[in-house]
Amino acid sequence: MSAKKKTGTTAYRCTSCGYTQPRWLGRCPDCGEWNTLQEVSLQDEAPAGPGSIIAGSASGGGGAFSPRVAPRPIPLSAVEARSGSRLPTGIPELDRVLGGAVMKRSAILVGGEPGIGKSTLLLQAAAGAATNGRILYVSGEESAAQIRSRADRLGLPLDRIELLCTGRLEDIGRALSDVNPVFVIVDSIQTVYSPEAGAVPGTVNQLKLCAHELVAWVKERDAVLFLVAHVTKEGSIAGPKALEHLVDTVISFERNDDEVRFLRALKNRFGSVDELGIFRMTEKGLQAVEDPSGMFIVRRSGDLPPGVAVVPVFEGSRVFMVEIQALTVSAKGAMTRVFSDRVDAARVSRVAAVLEKRIGLRFSDQDIYVNVAGGVRLVESAIDLALAAALYSARTDIPSPPSTALIGELSLAGEIRPVNRLRQRVKAAASLGFGTVMAPEADSGSRAVKDVREAVSALFGKAP
Ligand code: TYD
Ligand code: MG
Repeated sequence: MSAKKKTGTTAYRCTSCGYTQPRWLGRCPDCGEWNTLQEVSLQDEAPAGPGSIIAGSASGGGGAFSPRVAPRPIPLSAVEARSGSRLPTGIPELDRVLGGAVMKRSAILVGGEPGIGKSTLLLQAAAGAATNGRILYVSGEESAAQIRSRADRLGLPLDRIELLCTGRLEDIGRALSDVNPVFVIVDSIQTVYSPEAGAVPGTVNQLKLCAHELVAWVKERDAVLFLVAHVTKEGSIAGPKALEHLVDTVISFERNDDEVRFLRALKNRFGSVDELGIFRMTEKGLQAVEDPSGMFIVRRSGDLPPGVAVVPVFEGSRVFMVEIQALTVSAKGAMTRVFSDRVDAARVSRVAAVLEKRIGLRFSDQDIYVNVAGGVRLVESAIDLALAAALYSARTDIPSPPSTALIGELSLAGEIRPVNRLRQRVKAAASLGFGTVMAPEADSGSRAVKDVREAVSALFGKAP
C-alpha cells in the first residue's frame, strides 16, 4: 500500500454510473462495470444543488426553478404548518394505500413490472383528481396517440389532461414552469435523462439526478408528483431502489394471477404501509374489487381436502379470509426442510415443533410445504392456530371440518394466546358463512379453545 496523497482532493468516478469513491478499483462497486473508474479532481466540482438544471422560473426567490440562493435558518415558530392538504385521486383504493389521499408537495414512486397497469392507474387517477388545477402527464415511453387511445378505451375525459412526450429533463422543467400543474405524472423515470448527468441515458446517476430535480420542484409547489418506475420481476426495485430515499412514498404494484393487482406502500411518510389496494384489470381499466374479504378463500363443493385451514387476517384496516395449505412428505435425506414463501418458514417450524411436542405428532422426519391461496403473505401471529390445523390435517390426512375459521397465536407451551381485533375477525368470518369460529376467547359467537390439544380434538374428532 502506498502512502496516502492529497487526501480529499481527488476521487475516482465511474464513467458509467457516476459512483464516486476515494480509491481506484478495477470494478465499480455500484454498477459492476469494469475499468470505468477515472480520477477526477474534487476541487473543480460545483455541488449539484436543487434547481441547478431545472432553471429559468419566473417565480423568483428561492423556488426550485430559480437560481440557487443559499438558504438561511428560520425560527421553527415562523414556519407555516401545512396539515390536511391532501388531494384525492378519485380512486379510493389508491387513496387508501397513500394514507387517505395524495399529500401535496410530495413525490410518489410507483413501481411494478412492465404491463402490470401503472400507466393505466395513473391516467385514471389524473382524470379523477379532485382539483381544478392543471394536470400534466409526461410520457417518455408512449406516443401521444397511444395515450389518447388508452384514455378513449377507458372512457376518460380528455380535456383535463395535458400531455408532454419527452424524456429530456430540461424540456420537462420548461413545461412545469409554463403549465404550473398541480398533478404531475412522469412515466417513467427511467426514460428521463439530462445531458448534465453524463452521456449515457439510463444510468443510476441519470436516474438519481433527474428524480432529485423533479422532487425538488414538487417540494416547493402545492402539487403532487408521481414517478413511474419499472421494476423487474427478480430485483424488486433494482435501479429505482436508489430513488426510494428521495421520494416521500413508494407504492408497488404486484399481481397474483392474470387479473388481480395488489397495490401496497413500501414506504410512506404520510401514512401507514399496511393498507392493501386490490384491483382487477378489466376491459375498462383497473376496477377496485368491491368486497375483497372473501376473495382468497377457495370455494369448494363437498368436503375439504386434507391440509387446509382458514383464518381471518388483517391487511391494514380490512379483514380477509385466507386459506392456508400444507403438505408434509417423508424427507428423502437426513435433513428435513420447510418450503414456505408466504408464511415465514421459522413460524412453520415452530408451530410444527409445538404440535410434535404437545400432541406427539411427528414432524421432525418430514419435509413441510406451506402455501397461501391467492398469493398473499401472512405475517400475523394470529395465523398460528390455522397453520397448526393445516399441518395436523396434512400430516394425518384428516380434513378440517368445513365452514370453520381458526384464530389464535400459539405459545411454545401449546396455549392459544389472544389476538388483537378479535371481534372484527369473528364478524368477517361469520359474514362469509363460516358457521364455526375457534378463537382464544368467546366473542361474538366464537368458540373459545384454550390450547392446541383441545383445538385438535374439537376439529379432528378424536383425542390426539
Ligand atoms: P399498462 O398500464 O400499460 O402497464 P404498465 O404501464 O405498468 O406497463 O397496462 C398494460 C396492460 O393492461 C396491457 O396488457 C393491456 C391491459 N389493459 C387492460 O386489460 N384493460 C385496459 O383498459 C387497459 C388500458 C389496459
Ligand atoms: Mg406504462
